[in-house]
Amino acid sequence: MLFDQQGGILATMKQQLTATVVDPDLLFLPWEIPLEQWDEETVAPIARGISRHIVRFVKVNNAIYAVKETVDEFALREYQMLTNLQELDVPCVEPAGVVQGRTDKEGNPLGAALLTKHLTFSLPYRALFSTTLRPQVAEKFLDALALLLVRLHLNGFLWGDCSLSNTLFRRDAGSFAAYLVDAETGELHNKLTDGQRTHDIENARINIAGELLDLEAGGLLHPSMDPVETANSIISKYQSLWQEVTEPVVVTPGERFKLYNRITRLNELGFDVTEIKAESSDGQVYMRPVVLEPNFYAQKLAALTGLTVEEQQGRALMKDLEDFRSKHNISVENTNIAAHRWVSERFNQVVAKAPAEMRAKFTPAQLYYEILQYRWKISEESGQDIGIRPAADEYIEKVLGSKPDEQAIIGTNEPDDGSEIENTAAIRIIAD
Ligand SMILES: Nc1ncnc2c1ncn2[C@@H]1O[C@H](COP(=O)(O)OP(=O)(O)O)[C@@H](O)[C@H]1O
Ligand SMILES: [Mg+2]
Repeated sequence: MLFDQQGGILATMKQQLTATVVDPDLLFLPWEIPLEQWDEETVAPIARGISRHIVRFVKVNNAIYAVKETVDEFALREYQMLTNLQELDVPCVEPAGVVQGRTDKEGNPLGAALLTKHLTFSLPYRALFSTTLRPQVAEKFLDALALLLVRLHLNGFLWGDCSLSNTLFRRDAGSFAAYLVDAETGELHNKLTDGQRTHDIENARINIAGELLDLEAGGLLHPSMDPVETANSIISKYQSLWQEVTEPVVVTPGERFKLYNRITRLNELGFDVTEIKAESSDGQVYMRPVVLEPNFYAQKLAALTGLTVEEQQGRALMKDLEDFRSKHNISVENTNIAAHRWVSERFNQVVAKAPAEMRAKFTPAQLYYEILQYRWKISEESGQDIGIRPAADEYIEKVLGSKPDEQAIIGTNEPDDGSEIENTAAIRIIAD
């Protein structure tokens, strides 16, 4: 056996594993058996979305991996594509390795396997609602998907198969953050043409319409929703985001506020504007944000506290940190001191109130956000300001227990034929 620690190749007599971080135990999975036949001891029963290939989850040394059985060429290509996307800092699943050269006990060849790290606290869209998909939730899915598509397109990535099933959703405060899970059809270019972008978005619209029609046929779509109209809204969502991010602001003297307004809106969308290009003609100045860093609030919070959170969580937590700073009369210049105190005296202590067995329900940031919301609700109901600690105690006692675990949501391992795989039992177990 041969391996190294980075970008290494592990080889045994039979198969070969190419991986970024090598865990030798991955090689001891039953690669000589078709993935479909892996037994319950090997496979972790976690909810997954609809897929073309066989996909299973395995637990190896406390890490959970998704295994997708496909052909050598596709597995290597998708592995490389996910690696590139990770480098571009686009939200997607993390590639872990490719296993090639598989053969069964009789020596017949078996498909290659792509390994990706299970994205914790992420859910396929079908697992994110309990009875029917309601308009408000669908709206949030499409908002998150449109933002993901804009971020991918800004980086020159043409998805080719954007759909709800090829996306994973993580709770992000009151909305969702979307992650790309299936990069098989993707292409990376220096820059996309308008035609390429239009094609990609049209493809997304058709895929989403199909998915919503499927839900409707299964009685899983709220009766007030029209599947095709809902799917169509991805276009306007995408276009208004794209415009906001890329169109120049025309500023005449005395209208600098226009630029500030645009920057504020971009910040709200989660982009930090780090460079602006200005050109003047006809007495007007055209200003265009050229360098946009994603995750404006999340990065700000990370720099101050070291916490890794999603963007809207970052926004809510930064606001709470600000409240904490002003309440304790700490000056703006000393925000870093306030941040240090806020983490140790507020965030960590509040989150630690949740008993260990409830930690798999939400990420710490989402739990803190849920407690903030609860505090707001009970303060309003009682007409007085309730402190975060009593609010946390009450929330944990009365609400948290009834929430499902979302760290790695359990589904079933029903036999499937491999053509259209759907984890039916997992679908309706999450309350919305
Ligand atoms: N790393 C991962 N973390 C969580 N879920 C995953 C991961 N990889 C795959 N899945 C689940 O498996 C499903 C199918 O994966 P996908 O790559 O779309 O397969 P296919 O190419 O066959 O369509 C996804 O919708 C998702 O629910
Ligand atoms: Mg897919």
